[in-house]
Amino acid sequence: MKTSVNLIFNVVFLVLLISPSVFSWKKDEFRNCNQTPFCKRARSRKPGACNLIATDVSISDDGDLIAKLIAKIPENNEAQDLPTEVNSKPLLLVVSVYQDGILRLKIDEDQSLNPPKKRFEVPDVIIDEFLSKKLYLQRLSEEKIDNDVGFSSVVYLDNDYEGVLRHDPFEVFVRERGNGKRVLSMNSNGLFDFEQSREKTEGEDWEEKFRGHTDTRPYGPHSISFDVSFYGADFVSGIPEHATSLALKPTSGPGVEDGFSEPYRLFNLDVFEYIPESPFGLYGSVPFMISHGKARGSSGFFWLNAAEMQIDVLGSGWNAGEEKIKSPVDEKRIDTLWMSEAGVVDAFFFVGPGPKDVVRQYIGVTGRPAMPQLFATAYHQCRWNYRDEEDVFGVDSKFDEHDIPYDVLWLDIEHTDGKRYFTWDKLLFPNPKEMQNKLAEKGRHMVTIVDPHIKRDENYHIHKEASNNGYYVKDASNRDFDGWCWPGSSSYVDMVNPEIRNWWADKFSYINYVGSTPSLYIWNDMNEPSVFNGPEVTMPRDALHGGIEHRELHNAYGYYFHMATSNGLLKRENGNDRPFVLSRAFFPGTQRYGAVWTGDNTADWDHLRVSVPMILTLGLTGISFTGADVGGFFGNPEPDLLVRWYQLGAYYPFFRAHAHQDTRRREPWLFGERNTELIREAIHTRYMFLPYFYTLFREANVTGTPVLRPLWMEFPADEETFSNDEAFMVGNSLLVQGIYTQRANHVSVYLPGEQSWYDMRTGATYKGGKRHKFEVLEESVPSFQRAGTIMPRKDRFRRSSTQMEKDPYTLVIALNSSKEAEGELYIDDGKSFEFEHGAYIHRHFKFSNGKLTSSNAAPYAAGGKRFSTECIVERIILLGLSPATKSALIEPANQKVEIELGPLTLRPGWSPSVLTIRKPNLRIAEDWTIKIL
Ligand code: GLC
Repeated sequence: MKTSVNLIFNVVFLVLLISPSVFSWKKDEFRNCNQTPFCKRARSRKPGACNLIATDVSISDDGDLIAKLIAKIPENNEAQDLPTEVNSKPLLLVVSVYQDGILRLKIDEDQSLNPPKKRFEVPDVIIDEFLSKKLYLQRLSEEKIDNDVGFSSVVYLDNDYEGVLRHDPFEVFVRERGNGKRVLSMNSNGLFDFEQSREKTEGEDWEEKFRGHTDTRPYGPHSISFDVSFYGADFVSGIPEHATSLALKPTSGPGVEDGFSEPYRLFNLDVFEYIPESPFGLYGSVPFMISHGKARGSSGFFWLNAAEMQIDVLGSGWNAGEEKIKSPVDEKRIDTLWMSEAGVVDAFFFVGPGPKDVVRQYIGVTGRPAMPQLFATAYHQCRWNYRDEEDVFGVDSKFDEHDIPYDVLWLDIEHTDGKRYFTWDKLLFPNPKEMQNKLAEKGRHMVTIVDPHIKRDENYHIHKEASNNGYYVKDASNRDFDGWCWPGSSSYVDMVNPEIRNWWADKFSYINYVGSTPSLYIWNDMNEPSVFNGPEVTMPRDALHGGIEHRELHNAYGYYFHMATSNGLLKRENGNDRPFVLSRAFFPGTQRYGAVWTGDNTADWDHLRVSVPMILTLGLTGISFTGADVGGFFGNPEPDLLVRWYQLGAYYPFFRAHAHQDTRRREPWLFGERNTELIREAIHTRYMFLPYFYTLFREANVTGTPVLRPLWMEFPADEETFSNDEAFMVGNSLLVQGIYTQRANHVSVYLPGEQSWYDMRTGATYKGGKRHKFEVLEESVPSFQRAGTIMPRKDRFRRSSTQMEKDPYTLVIALNSSKEAEGELYIDDGKSFEFEHGAYIHRHFKFSNGKLTSSNAAPYAAGGKRFSTECIVERIILLGLSPATKSALIEPANQKVEIELGPLTLRPGWSPSVLTIRKPNLRIAEDWTIKIL
């Protein structure tokens, strides 16, 4: 009987699967705040509702500031919000201080009072190095602030900042030393609330129902909510992933736009056909917000918590009409409300003051972005699916035929034997090793997909081992959780357990992953996790990971899966190669394990446009190696859109074309000669700038500063940039403006700063601090080199990036008004971890006083190993010198070279102010000087 019910269910499900209309975004399939009791409750609280005060404040033996939070006993009976008995146990509060001015605040239940449940704290996100940078507080200093009756405790953060715990009303904030100006604070609006674990009272029902699913909620309500204020802020950004603007729009209070009345949701979900303008939560979650303002600069707030979160940005004046909170501060600020279903408070306050400082501080806690291999920073060709080996070889050779470089060919789920990952469909891919080796001969790589759902098939070795070892996530009744995904009935490996992660990692060895070779890398998808028949297309919240409920760690599941896969590649026999793993779901710390893409976008102009703020936002939260599906996943892009997408995508840190299986084929040569030419030029642009990109990836790897940056990250005082998310900076030197409408004729581009900008095609100059109107070219999106910078390039085009290794460099020197410029170039073997031991070259180029000097930059710790290269500089392009300049002298060789007029790129179109030194033949690794005569 059960089997036939299952059969009917499966058939119905399959019919649903292939019917396209089912998968346009259906709001109703997902919970909104009103249908989410913890969110609804938190949102309806009134400012000042928190009645907690801090008592028993002292310095602990561990050098932390500790206190108890207890409900204040009202002096008379006027108080409306009497503490409910259930919440009357004291909470424990710990403030610790770390180098770089970081304040960490933890609030949890008191374990000595034996709460019915130990709340989940997310392991493996905070890096050990951070913990070793703790400062041990010595003494407590108390002071009275703002006419308070009671005291506040003040802790030293660094020379410029201090942290304050205000006892009554309870509030925590960071302020500038000396002038006492606040930077950021928690509970200034009195919205803090912490639902403590408790026993069920008689007749109480903890279950929650949503669209036919029941969440048993055996532990009852556990939510936490509080307000956070950012002072001197003009806007806030961060908290990916949402398809929306870079500066987050208000979601509550005055000024809420249509479609933005829900809080920004952080709940990793597989959302089919997401819409390009919504606070709805997508595939990944980083609860880290960064604020920025002209007056003060930037600050940041991070809450390490993996349960569902909802965050309101409160429109200015949101609390007008409310009884005024006892707060002295009337200065400009942005208030936000943070709500989570479970977990503890483990929050970090970052003082900045610059945007890059905030990102560095955040990276200090969650880890530096991994350094990718060079090939991974080049162009990737993907489609669901390349059908068989013949298709693969056909596509591969067409790239060569059309003189278009590419580095990686991707295989989606259909390459497997019935969606059993780590296997191959024997008919379609009979010789996977030979296939990979053939691509590898041209310096190319392959990526296959490996998802976390495992087909429940007794003959599938992965399933057999996982079920025998008890490695699957369990359902609320402690049986292997069984959900529906690509292979049909599936179970999900419990990646939160390190032993299980190790087991998983071993599956990537060449022996275990039959048919894999050293040039094969991995794509992790559906790791939110996606469960087609689960509540909101994911796993039920009452599923179990050992003793931990899924609700407590939902947003981190995909992170652990990504981590395990990345570790698997490290464990392979040639484990000295840097792993490459692309993941759809993400969490704080993901940057240490690989790249992320923005999931299933659509082939329309709005999705092209929103890809920029989405990528910029990810970059602000440490995840720099990201991109959107070029061309759009769903639907068929008209050629104009596809070309524009390539022209923009060529600047995404992760540059991959991808398409749904129902779409028409769209490889670059399928749209006529002219479009092929345009796409070729876009991809060539990326290959030309690979040395620059790779240098930026290294900068991200060391400092966290993302490859793609909002304009305000480079021009923090220029207010015009604050709401601009149509243009972006690639590093500090290049500004790119997308074209987001069909057959656009003109585009308005704001060029920030005081210096001028050089058109990247022609070398023509434009004034900074101004908006310019440009005619739109078919050949490229507008891009400009900032005066005062030097960009390294490689101008010879090969089949793949790895074949460019020995190619010579071009340096493009864009002089500013003082006739100066500076730039960098980072080079290593592009592959191994030797760079971590000093095997790299890092050059610093400086032009001043009529002289270009190349010197060793190497600001990073050297470790004894060396990297050498024979590469030379074959061309130096000078922008901004007088056309009368005729020659230069190379030192120490004492060799005179000619300076000629010449084009800026190898394309037609150039300006007379572009000068070129051809064949100076200088070794890139050496010190030298060129003096303009
Ligand atoms: C998901 C992915 C998409 C992939 C498809 C099949 O929709 O987001 O990129 O092609 O699954 O694996």
